[in-house]
Amino acid sequence: MNETTRSSQWLFGAAAAAVVALSGFATSTAFAADKLTYYCSAQEDWCQLMVQAFEKETGIKVAMSRKSSGETFAQIKAEARNPKGDIWWGGTGDPHLQAAEEGLTEAYVSPMRGELHDWALSQAASANDKTIGIYAGGLGYGYNTELLKEKGLPVPASWMDLTDPVYKGEVQMANPNSSGTAYTTLATIVQLFGEEKGFEFMKALHKNINQYTKSGSAPIKAAARGETTIGIVFMHDAVKQAVSGFPINVVAPSEGTGYEIGSMSIIKGARNPESAQKFYDWALTSAVQSRSLEVKAYQVMSNKAADSSPSAPKLDEIKLIDYDFKKYGSSAERKRLLKKWDDEVKSLPR
Ligand code: F6P
Repeated sequence: MNETTRSSQWLFGAAAAAVVALSGFATSTAFAADKLTYYCSAQEDWCQLMVQAFEKETGIKVAMSRKSSGETFAQIKAEARNPKGDIWWGGTGDPHLQAAEEGLTEAYVSPMRGELHDWALSQAASANDKTIGIYAGGLGYGYNTELLKEKGLPVPASWMDLTDPVYKGEVQMANPNSSGTAYTTLATIVQLFGEEKGFEFMKALHKNINQYTKSGSAPIKAAARGETTIGIVFMHDAVKQAVSGFPINVVAPSEGTGYEIGSMSIIKGARNPESAQKFYDWALTSAVQSRSLEVKAYQVMSNKAADSSPSAPKLDEIKLIDYDFKKYGSSAERKRLLKKWDDEVKSLPR
């Protein structure tokens, strides 16, 4: 075999290898583009709507599971060596920020960014583009007007009111370990009153709590059914019950309150990265975000052109604190606060 033959054989071999590699790549991406494993931490009915709409528009088959924000964070962390999810959509921003810091999510700069509110982009900036804001919502609580009247209880208007012993056994909130809503509550109280007084507040509130639920919106669903008088939740979740015909009044606490930047992140090592990016861009469009109203999801959407409902809580009319997302979404602070709450509050008798 002369030099020319050998080099042409080598060339042919290399080209063949490249063809095999390329076709392998093409096959795997074509295959990958067909499905999406979707972790959803927003309202169940909204999660379902997103699945149906995305499958219909793209033909991509979606496997969805709905879990609360803290639970989903824990799942993604537990699966980090062998990631199973592709995209995490919805849920409070703090655990998304923690996931970004811990290297569990992937940076992505969507072409849709120009259409978004500044607060959605600042969430991305805090996480080196490893997450982005999809909606915002203010924290508060709701109460069942009929039960309140029946029990002869005073109308609550502030956070402090909820620690009044008159409400013993009448208040429900979620567990901040599993629920982003409840973690936002804990972080809000600490920011509003300072850490020492904030924990005094949480201990006093604990005496009035009838149950710590797993999911953040469960307490207001329970209030709607008459199983608890008061539920600490995001105001949009309370509004949903009110507009659905339940006797629920929504309270924006008079001292001021915190809020969430509900977020979306691509999971690091996603098996279907192309589908994940497709979903990501699609989920930021005004057309898709406007569909939230079909399921009475009354958060403020991150796309400036998305429709909003007159029933939605107006964040610019509520006294909002300057919630420090960077600090309370940091891994060290979230872990520290949750441990402190477990040790000093949850363990107390009621
Ligand atoms: O029900 C909707 C919602 O309140 C979202 O606005 C929020 O991001 C999410 O639920 C939080 O749920 P959880 O408290 O269960 O983590």
